[in-house]
Amino acid sequence: MKTKKMLFALLIGISSLLIITSCEYEIIEPLKIVIPPGDSVSFSLKIIPIFTDKCVTCHGTGHFAVDLTEANAYTDLFAKNMIDTADAASSVLYVKLIEVGGTHEGRSTPSEQALILAWIEDGAKNN
Ligand code: HEC
Repeated sequence: MKTKKMLFALLIGISSLLIITSCEYEIIEPLKIVIPPGDSVSFSLKIIPIFTDKCVTCHGTGHFAVDLTEANAYTDLFAKNMIDTADAASSVLYVKLIEVGGTHEGRSTPSEQALILAWIEDGAKNN
């Protein structure tokens, strides 16, 4: 009887230990794209495909807020002050995409957001 009780206590001990140690968490660092020296993020090759894939269904010409079609995206983003090369991370385009709980949460992936930020930090060139 005594050994049964001890065994039971041991089992409880082990399982509570397992429960406690299983509560791990990891810290998710924001993605950061590092541009190699002499290289740059191409607007036409890297950014336009994101717009075409994820945005133009709503942001076509004459649709919501900003025109993100290949032909007009560059001009319209600047015309509507959505790019701030002096403070890239505060650009409307970027903030809109990363805002937690905002209307655009989940519309782009963290790596797409990081690419857009890197493009703006790189001077938002029309290349
Ligand atoms: C399902 C439709 C839809 C999709 C897809 C969509 N948007 Fe929007 N977007 C809207 C609407 C509607 C507004 C205006 C209301 C608002 O701000 O949410 C808007 C507003 C914006 C604004 C203006 C924000 C401001 O404060 O003036 C930006 C920039 C923007 N979208 C970028 C994007 C980008 C980049 C993508 C693709 C990754 C995208 N949107 C995808 C519907 C969409």
